[in-house]
Amino acid sequence: MKIALVGATGLVGGVMRKVLEERGFGDCELIPAASSRSVGKKVTFAGKMCNVVSVEEAIEQAPEYAIFSAGSGPSLQYAPLFAAKGTMVIDNSSAWRSDPSKPLVVPEINGDVVTPADHIIANPNCSTIQMVMALAPLHRRYRIRRIVVSTYQSVTGTGMKAVNQLEKERAGEPCERAYPHPIDMNLIPHGGTFEENGYTTEETKLLNETRKILRDSEIAVSATVVRVPVTGGHSESVNVEFYEDFDLQEVYDLLKAMPGVVVQDNPAENLYPMPLYAKDKDEVFVGRVRRDFSQPKTLNLWVVSDNLRKGAATNAVQIMEMLLKR
Ligand code: A2P
Repeated sequence: MKIALVGATGLVGGVMRKVLEERGFGDCELIPAASSRSVGKKVTFAGKMCNVVSVEEAIEQAPEYAIFSAGSGPSLQYAPLFAAKGTMVIDNSSAWRSDPSKPLVVPEINGDVVTPADHIIANPNCSTIQMVMALAPLHRRYRIRRIVVSTYQSVTGTGMKAVNQLEKERAGEPCERAYPHPIDMNLIPHGGTFEENGYTTEETKLLNETRKILRDSEIAVSATVVRVPVTGGHSESVNVEFYEDFDLQEVYDLLKAMPGVVVQDNPAENLYPMPLYAKDKDEVFVGRVRRDFSQPKTLNLWVVSDNLRKGAATNAVQIMEMLLKR
């Protein structure tokens, strides 16, 4: 089987290669593609060196699957060209997520929305994936009315330039900035770009994508996205109000039964999820589970996951696995 990886030289592209190897796709023919700057360079996959090709050349090879992680522009331009060759595209950018004709998929939650006619499948935003992984089983049981979420997002979500900025600032060296401000020793309440209504694009994604994945257009979401000088993963403080009241023990049971979710919650032993320990793991870690006593039927959670794994590469590869099983 041939798999094209568009954005193979990027941060997510590197994790994609690792995840593909780990999950048994090492025997597949990888077609790494990137921008013209990288054509002719080599990347490693399953112990082999592979030549980076242009996206046009990757399309010509008509692979069975193409996984994109190169930003929205290349996805809009090239995903339909792959699809026209019969390739199944799994796209990690925001290009197709809000298109009603394209499924937006977290396999554990809504894999059933994909039909045989679909040729472009959108992978949700990293901060949305980890939040809905924790909330989906609770939504099914108590139905969510409103979510207030504040995120503490890793610089890895902004790509290599951002990781480089943090590392150089920490080393006291000059660097090209990925953010409009220093990130080391700082917090930047600004993810994506500002919209006219005062929210950022990353905040709006948390609203629209949550509604689409949980199939409930009435869920209200109030989001604040903050970039933090951390590399291990994204963390989220989630306050969620339900229509039905809940029993806290049942909440734990529902979270523990959710595939891909790990509950880490023991205050007596200082046990709660942290990004340092989520790094390189596929699971979504949930802790600090407690009733919000300030209003009825409301719960607080702390949700942490490696945004490059379940938030990007792992979810994309799981979508491919799901399609292969069918
Ligand atoms: P390149 O390395 O050639 O610039 P990151 O998010 O870590 O910055 O990575 C972005 C990825 O997307 C890289 O692999 C980058 O390739 C790739 N990319 C960026 N622009 C394009 C484009 N126009 N066509 C194909 N790949 C692109």
